[in-house]
Amino acid sequence: MLENFMKNKILVTGGAGYIGTHTCIALHEAGYDFVVYDNLFNSSREAINRVSTLIGQTIEFIEGDIRDAESLKQVFAAHHFFGVIHFAGLKAVGESVAKPLMYYNNNVSGTITLLEMMSEYDVKNFVFSSSATVYGDPESLPINEESPRSCTNPYGQSKLTVEHILEDLAVSDDRWNLIALRYFNPVGAHSSGQIGEDPNDIPNNLMPYISQVAVGKLDKLSIFGNDYPTVDGTGVRDFIHVTDLAKGHVTALNYLNKQTRSNGSGTAKKNSVGFLPINLGTGKGTSVLELVSAFSEVSGQAIPYQFTDRRAGDIASCYASADKAKMLLGWQAELSIADMCRDTWHWQSMNPNGYTKVI
Ligand code: NAD
Ligand code: WQD
Repeated sequence: MLENFMKNKILVTGGAGYIGTHTCIALHEAGYDFVVYDNLFNSSREAINRVSTLIGQTIEFIEGDIRDAESLKQVFAAHHFFGVIHFAGLKAVGESVAKPLMYYNNNVSGTITLLEMMSEYDVKNFVFSSSATVYGDPESLPINEESPRSCTNPYGQSKLTVEHILEDLAVSDDRWNLIALRYFNPVGAHSSGQIGEDPNDIPNNLMPYISQVAVGKLDKLSIFGNDYPTVDGTGVRDFIHVTDLAKGHVTALNYLNKQTRSNGSGTAKKNSVGFLPINLGTGKGTSVLELVSAFSEVSGQAIPYQFTDRRAGDIASCYASADKAKMLLGWQAELSIADMCRDTWHWQSMNPNGYTKVI
């Protein structure tokens, strides 16, 4: 539990979503209070209800859009927040290519409106959901935070643009403390099987696709390419359990607390954090075939697959250097690929149709 002086209220935008719900649980376990603000565009009230049940407490939930300045104003006026964890955003790469304005409007304009409101209410601590996508096709592996950034699709550009905005903001005023957490490939679900990833339609990402094949909703997995220069020719990624990821957010807030607060005697010096990018990954690469095999073993289900052409825009390999998170936040991933598969399967088999229908 946090010491009393560290107990703080956090605004969690996008807190009804996949990573947000898991982070709400981690915040509660760490002793933080929080308010969830989400427009439910890609989530449901049922997810909030389940988090409430899991933590044994009603969640303060506000249905609202980060682009709605008036609605945000009411929220900031009604609470005294220590900081904001900003998950709210759209995340489908393919959709972003088809609808770039929708992505820039939501992810960039929405974030600007949120930051303006934070500025108005003097809330200067911010944890942003960035992504390993900002590294594009990496020049070397593992990828550290100093690696060059470049993006080839509007989704990635929207994340990179927000990072640039945060950098400029940090230069403009040293009272801002802005952490950009660059997630690698979040997968898995809460160990209870009550919350997890609930994609609309056919999943774009590998793990939910595998689990829907395993549960019989989809016939077979298409593996996009088996001629990459990797261990077995399939793509390699740094899969990270969403529970580990959620804890990473708590450690980021703890870091902001330590850096920006006096020690209670009023004598400690406050340090400005500025703009601080930090990778959240395990540091280990796993191939598509290795993940399929691990999932099959853990679930006891066959995962039929076929090899198809490479998917446009995909890279061969991507995994993190996780050293900075360990050094600055004292955080490192603890859960294994088997844990990720087991918890995904638990969630998927208990909720074959996600939050909409329960068996
Ligand atoms: P998600 O879609 O499950 O959650 C995002 C939440 O934000 C949803 O509940 C959605 O309803 C809400 N939202 C979207 N636009 C909003 C708006 N304008 N106003 C208010 N609420 C809004 O996605 P997630 O996987 O939990 O991702 C959370 C964040 O992490 C996103 O910003 C995403 O880009 C980023 N991220 C995700 C991944 C991943 O693979 N899941 C990887 C890297 C980064
Ligand atoms: C992983 C591997 C595919 C589906 C994406 C976003 C990224 C980030 C995380 C938000 C690749 C292969 C996949 C399938 C397959 N999101 N694959 N068959 O592409 O690493 O990252 O999600 O920030 O921005 O781009 O994740 O899960 O889609 O793919 O063979 O049906 O699985 O080719 O090698 P990706 P993914």
